[in-house]
Amino acid sequence: DKHHKAGHSVRDAFTSNLGMLAATLGSAVGLGNIWKFPSMTGTNGGASFLFVYLACTVVVGLPVMISEIMLGRTVKANAITTLRKLSPKGQPWGIVGISGVVAAFLILCFYTEVAGWVFAYIFKGISGSILTTDPTIASAAFADLISDPVQSIGWQWFVIIFVSIIITFGISKGIEKVTIKLMPILFLLLLVICGRSLTLPGAEKGLEFLFAPDFSKISGSVILMAMGLAFFKLSIGMGTMMTYGSYFKNSQNIPLTATRVVLADLLISLLAGIAIFPAVFAYGFDVSAGPSLLFITIPAVFASMPMGHLFAVLFFVLTAVAATGAMLSLFEVPVAYLCEARQMSRKAATLTTALLIMLLGAPAALSSSLTKDVKVFGMNFFDLFDFLSSNLCMPAGGLLICIFTGWVFGKDRFKAELSNHGLIKNEKVVDVLFFLIKYVSPLLVAIVMMNMLKVF
Ligand code: PHE
Repeated sequence: DKHHKAGHSVRDAFTSNLGMLAATLGSAVGLGNIWKFPSMTGTNGGASFLFVYLACTVVVGLPVMISEIMLGRTVKANAITTLRKLSPKGQPWGIVGISGVVAAFLILCFYTEVAGWVFAYIFKGISGSILTTDPTIASAAFADLISDPVQSIGWQWFVIIFVSIIITFGISKGIEKVTIKLMPILFLLLLVICGRSLTLPGAEKGLEFLFAPDFSKISGSVILMAMGLAFFKLSIGMGTMMTYGSYFKNSQNIPLTATRVVLADLLISLLAGIAIFPAVFAYGFDVSAGPSLLFITIPAVFASMPMGHLFAVLFFVLTAVAATGAMLSLFEVPVAYLCEARQMSRKAATLTTALLIMLLGAPAALSSSLTKDVKVFGMNFFDLFDFLSSNLCMPAGGLLICIFTGWVFGKDRFKAELSNHGLIKNEKVVDVLFFLIKYVSPLLVAIVMMNMLKVF
């Protein structure tokens, strides 16, 4: 009987640990892997960017993710409450949570637009109008979509309403479960696309671009971009992971779970890269096309595949699903804030959030049409929101989380929490993590940010 009980509790813990891994992955995996990673790798020089991005992920991303989850689990509350409760009297660490709310808004303003393009491409995939290997036609099809104000705004609103409905009806958890079940299919489909892409004539050039680094291409701005992507990818530096951590069981191995999330996330990004870059070179597309890269390259791969029609539709459906998972976690940040700090009902909070994103997101959605010529700091609204969230808010939040964990929360509690109070023997690993969190990660983030602000 005793044996039976022990076995039972182990299985329960396992199921729930897997559930937390899945939920965390559901927030991390999204347009960042499939759209942003290839686009940024293309515009920032390829393999050398990938190299810096990997370094940022290991040295800054993983430690920050682990700290966030750990802090959330310690207090079992949302980001703002967590930080307020752990702060010594009079220290305003809750500001990290506020900066997170701002970051989530900024991200949603352009993320919903890109998700809108993905939804639009499902329908264009069905009609077959996008399946072409001709760069001119492919670019024109995409340009038609983004330069039409009605379509841009329409698709963005469609996405915002779609996500709001999921949240209002309280079915986010259900959707998350569906999302995570579909992820293996996305993974397999990416493998199929990679197979086709790699067998195109001239594919080696794409692999070379992605994997053979030319370190002379690394510059301050490449490092800034790579670090921003590391934050964006892992949904860190804005409190999202603290909220997820608050649902973690006390028995869950946080460093191990976070490492698995990071590896799985990287794998999906790399597959997206291997699916896209060989085709870019094979068909003579422009590697530095930026945000349009995915939308002009992937249809070309499908156009040269048997049943390409069907695969294209499936691909955009699965990408839309992954994007929805990420958006649900993004919405959660302002919604939770409005509910708790402003005492709104969940419905009112969701509606307020949705309306604000429609309002603030419109200038981003119109960046290729009506607001094309409006530049702030030399960027259109779309790029501005992206820049402010990934390169300002999230790194600043990450920096504060490092300082908080390393210098306020302290080593003893850090070690106790991450070893589940001595139950996991991971002292050496945790020592290294703490050293990274206390000195290395904050210093790196600070230098990159000061360089951006032209302090040097
Ligand atoms: N990580 C998500 C992606 O790559 C985006 C995201 C950022 C989600 C921040 C939540 C918080 O698509």
